[in-house]
Amino acid sequence: MSSTLPKFCFVMHPLSLKDIERYEPGAKGKGEPIMRKILEWMPEWSVAHVTGVRTPDGRQTEGWFVGTPLLPEQMMSFPREEVYTRILRAIDIGVELGAQIAGLGAFTGVVGDGGVTVAQRSPIPVTTGNSLTIAAGIASLFRGAQEMGIDVASATAVIIGATGSIGSACAKLIAPKVRHLILVARNETRLRKFHEEVASTLPCSSSFTTDLAAAVRGAQLVLTATSSTKEIVEPADLQTGTVVCELSLPHDVSRRVALERPDVLVTEGGNMLLPGAPHFARVREPKGDFDLNLPPRTALACMSETMVLALERRFECYTLGRGIDLAKVVEMDEMATRCGFTLADMRAFDMAITPETIAATRAAAAERRSQVVA
Ligand SMILES: NC(=O)c1ccc[n+]([C@@H]2O[C@H](COP(=O)([O-])OP(=O)(O)OC[C@H]3O[C@@H](n4cnc5c(N)ncnc54)[C@H](OP(=O)(O)O)[C@@H]3O)[C@@H](O)[C@H]2O)c1
Repeated sequence: MSSTLPKFCFVMHPLSLKDIERYEPGAKGKGEPIMRKILEWMPEWSVAHVTGVRTPDGRQTEGWFVGTPLLPEQMMSFPREEVYTRILRAIDIGVELGAQIAGLGAFTGVVGDGGVTVAQRSPIPVTTGNSLTIAAGIASLFRGAQEMGIDVASATAVIIGATGSIGSACAKLIAPKVRHLILVARNETRLRKFHEEVASTLPCSSSFTTDLAAAVRGAQLVLTATSSTKEIVEPADLQTGTVVCELSLPHDVSRRVALERPDVLVTEGGNMLLPGAPHFARVREPKGDFDLNLPPRTALACMSETMVLALERRFECYTLGRGIDLAKVVEMDEMATRCGFTLADMRAFDMAITPETIAATRAAAAERRSQVVA
């Protein structure tokens, strides 16, 4: 690999004990309290070497996934300074390997002020990757709506996590397409303030509530982008034929939806197909591949944004904090397209969503509607 290639690192962490067991099968059966303690003591390390990402015009990048081994609950409950220190240690590992820009994965980009403090203290520019996540999430939501035959212009959409970095931008970008928008978060004061700020600028009617279940019951389009560490969208609350675009990591939608609601289409919104022949090689076991638990050539949108910035040699703090510049979402989407990144095929609950799955979901929704009418 040429030393002149633009280089990136991406800070990642396990989202669940399952993630840890997939990486280290020896962790199976150890028990959650012991695993949590081990994670607390484990240092940051270089997890995977990323090669083979190549744009249609032949540009390449090289990078590393660097692990900071804390679970989401630990990220949110540990002293903030300790978590920042750990994220910065992971970035330092990337810098030693030659990285010129760092991406913050999942809760490393959520904790505290959404990357702002980390960026101030980092020796290289930092991005949360949220601009491309927003663009991908919106495209996924509307792709799902089209597949389910939803008339978007007359639909109600709910944004769960509406005051967040991703949710607030999604609300503004979804509003021009729908009839009504419902904003949901837990902190009512912040939610009201955000609604007051944006309501008059939105081209559709809008409302806000902290009652997540009631909001979901009233919507045909649902987008989740929360920092919840638990499942919060329950099967009983979803309308027949609804599309749920899930951006949150870990996921917000109860796994029971897959079993109990065959009439609802859930889709992970933030997966991208990478250009070229990407390869994620485990660093400690050079012959092993690193398993992202995604199909081949697929990565998260936040990782993809970091790669795009490296490919475009835009070594700058591109996306940080809450209150994201919508022009950057558009620009990042354009840069990603130019670099050959495309929205990955639909997927949810660790499975591909095939045309057959969609046909079955539509049929189940039609059946359920006919039962209600009868
Ligand atoms: N798929 C991808 O590629 C990708 C990329 C980046 C980030 N993400 C994920 O996207 C999610 C959001 O990230 P972000 O940077 O936008 O986070 P953020 O700025 O911290 O926003 C989180 C939002 O969720 C709300 N929230 C938290 N818990 C909630 C609950 N139980 N019920 C309802 N609302 C809740 C928060 O408001 P309150 O505190 O008032 O409730 C806030 O509005 C995270 O899960 C992150 O890991 C995914």
